Amino acid sequence: MPQYLLAIDQGTTSSRSILFDHDARIVSSAQEEFRQILPAPGHVEHDPEDIWKSQLNTIQGALGKVALKEVAAIGITNQRETTFVWDKRTGKPIHNAIVWQSRVSSYLCDRLRKQGLEETIRQKTGLVLDAYFSATKLMHLLETVDGARQAAEDGHLLFGTVDCYLVWKLTGGKRHATDASNASRTMMLNYETLDWDDELLAAYNIPRQMLPEVVDCSGKFAETDPTILGAAIPIAGMAGDQQAASFGQTCFDQGMVKNTYGTGAFALMNIGDKPVLSQNNLLTTVGWKIGDQVSYALEGSIFVAGAVVQWLRDGLGIIECSSEVEPLAETEEDNGGVYFVPAFVGLGAPYWDPNARGTIVGITRGTTGGHLARAALEAMAYQTRDMIEAMQRDAGVPLQVLQVDGGASVNNALMQFQTDLLGTTVRRPKISETTALGAAFLAGLAVGFWESQEELRGLWKLDKEFASVADRSKMDQMYARWKEAVERSRNWER
Ligand code: G3P
Repeated sequence: MPQYLLAIDQGTTSSRSILFDHDARIVSSAQEEFRQILPAPGHVEHDPEDIWKSQLNTIQGALGKVALKEVAAIGITNQRETTFVWDKRTGKPIHNAIVWQSRVSSYLCDRLRKQGLEETIRQKTGLVLDAYFSATKLMHLLETVDGARQAAEDGHLLFGTVDCYLVWKLTGGKRHATDASNASRTMMLNYETLDWDDELLAAYNIPRQMLPEVVDCSGKFAETDPTILGAAIPIAGMAGDQQAASFGQTCFDQGMVKNTYGTGAFALMNIGDKPVLSQNNLLTTVGWKIGDQVSYALEGSIFVAGAVVQWLRDGLGIIECSSEVEPLAETEEDNGGVYFVPAFVGLGAPYWDPNARGTIVGITRGTTGGHLARAALEAMAYQTRDMIEAMQRDAGVPLQVLQVDGGASVNNALMQFQTDLLGTTVRRPKISETTALGAAFLAGLAVGFWESQEELRGLWKLDKEFASVADRSKMDQMYARWKEAVERSRNWER
């Protein structure tokens, strides 16, 4: 019996690979940052070659000297929505990938809105009409890249999100497939039939033949080409990173909620096997599909969370590396009245305002870098409260426990602030890499490495539980100021 499961986590700013053992312990891991291409304000691209190379390097790094026969399977998880189009004859992408954060296709959302399609899209896909999702990114490529439309009509071009592109590359071009959770983020998948929706495809003018086969999140759907990794290893798990994190957090029961603090921040509530539309601007999305079992989720999506720290480093230059943000924030006792709305690419849930832009309010002569750092970190907690409040309104009951993970969740001061701001218990698991773990779980279930979801539940271990201690009215006052700051950031870009 092989001893390990390899999880591939292709994120927005870095590629990672992690090897887990049967007790869900991390045996080895490797990570590599790659280039962010910013061609114009609010536009974000990735070079597919950078993605592939960095991912391959980390796979080799994580595998190290481990014998390939010890790897039971591979699970893939990824930044979602990011759109790739490549020519299947040559394998060459026709353009850089358009990243989920990119607003480049906002004009197409306006066009679809004018055509009266907003409600149809919501009813069929569970999503809000926004440039965040893949459909308008793909439309944009077909409309603007020379010769693309014709090549697509002639059946030469393939579309895929990162999961699909990696499967294509890892199988040496043999398999063109995506999983139901990633597919549900394209704004092309009907969330009830779990098939591409022909009416929407016609409205978007997207040829169906470009689209991948939609497979389960757990199942042996492909094998790596032996010339690439040196062996044919089953690819047996696949899910968008937020859904994978939810699975890794073992949010298997209806009502369980997790929040992941990554480049963005994403809260998902398991809503069971029936999709329900949000009344409060959240998304309805596929959590996972395993055989006949489909689990849906309500999702709040924040576009900029940890990315704000990168901006403090690369844009403003007040820190040299990301880990300096915490000590800098701790140089001040509070935010000094400074509120920072990091609406760099507009605002996601629950505002959905593509025209909002980053705003810092409350600056005085006494404002320091420490205040800015603090305000930047606090913004993650305020935005999370925005999402959780919307979720509570949809659910009709207050949230008792929030399970957290992702980079910033290791920051105890921030998690305490989050707990105080929400008035909800926050629980952090020992493994904060729940995204990769979720992908490993999905693959492991498919190949019998783990037997059941019950067994996986037993592997979730608590690291720290945070309880709210702060004065509620003070926290509510701060939150009210945040909401005012948000109003000031809105409707800026015309
Ligand atoms: O929807 C975008 C999301 O999947 C990106 O995740 O972890 O790269 O912020 P992350």
